[in-house]
Amino acid sequence: MGQDERVRAHEVDTARAPIPLLVDVDTGIDDALALLYLLASPEAEIATVLCTAGNVPVHQVATNTLAWLEVCGRPDIEVAVGSAVPLVAPLMTTEDTHGPRGVGYAELPAPTRDPSARSAAEAWVELTRERPGELTGLVTGPLTNLALAVRLDPGVLTRLRRLVVMGGCFNHPGNTTPTSEWNVAVDPEAAKVVFDAFAGLAPERRPLLCPLDTTESIEMHPAHIARIAELAGSVPGEDLSPDDPRGRRSRASVPVVRHLSDALRFYMEFHRDQNLGYLAHVHDPFAAAVALGTVPFVTRPATVDVELDGRITRGTTVADWSGIWGREPDADIVVGTEPEYFFTHLVERVALYVRELYVPGSNN
Ligand code: RIB
Ligand code: CA
Repeated sequence: MGQDERVRAHEVDTARAPIPLLVDVDTGIDDALALLYLLASPEAEIATVLCTAGNVPVHQVATNTLAWLEVCGRPDIEVAVGSAVPLVAPLMTTEDTHGPRGVGYAELPAPTRDPSARSAAEAWVELTRERPGELTGLVTGPLTNLALAVRLDPGVLTRLRRLVVMGGCFNHPGNTTPTSEWNVAVDPEAAKVVFDAFAGLAPERRPLLCPLDTTESIEMHPAHIARIAELAGSVPGEDLSPDDPRGRRSRASVPVVRHLSDALRFYMEFHRDQNLGYLAHVHDPFAAAVALGTVPFVTRPATVDVELDGRITRGTTVADWSGIWGREPDADIVVGTEPEYFFTHLVERVALYVRELYVPGSNN
């Protein structure tokens, strides 16, 4: 197949004004890193964080999200609780990947505030009505809440400035079944409701999909954690090693470094157990950087659909790259990026934010 002339390179866009975001998470270790990255990013204004069941049950997701926001200095950000179950499928969680409570080995202080009184689906609808055309939606978990919002008010998607989703896999193996990615596999019906809703919309309204094809190139290694600790002024240094005893805890002087290190150690042990190496695929902060335009990436348009009925293929996302189905493209799929650039950027940004949090004025 010749080079598709619709393939588009997106350079880093430093000129952009702050981007207001609705962030829908299943916190989760990489979701937590995505939230920290957004808090550390001057381009980002988190309007609200919405919680969906996924990596762990939804109330644990909410507790984790409230706790991470608090240790990261932002107890002011609304956290709304979403659906406890997928649209149709029975709930599937993955404590073996993210830990019994979804924070790896981290021992986060219990949050001192409660979630918002409104549901996540109500928040999607209400906030896009209040700020039509302004908000970028970023979903780093199953699409259950957004699908419920679309059912409440189909206009929610066209009121978004853009939608960015971490999810799916196309020309790449799955991480949940041989052909499906976790966020879609947890709630395939929700993914189909959301993807189908973009059919027929203008190209600039297409969702940006960050599939495993690209996010599994975003490999966090112990050296990245060590560099975050060093730049954040945390002591002693963080030197995670595959030779460490399983479950060794960090003694970092800076709390966020300690919690991040303890969370990522669990995640790295999981990846090693899966024969992927002592590393961590940090899917969600990459999707966050795509939403902010702070990482270079390449997209290719396609028509996307989700298998719901296959005996062994349920939850599989399929991309029609060349119009075989006779349907217009309804998504821009992120097919490439520069992992080195991303980590240099993420490590410095997160570390300097954390240092300023604990040593005010230290970045001046
Ligand atoms: O498949 C990876 C995705 O599933 C990530 O968002 C991870 O946090 C889990 O939600
Ligand atoms: Ca996630």
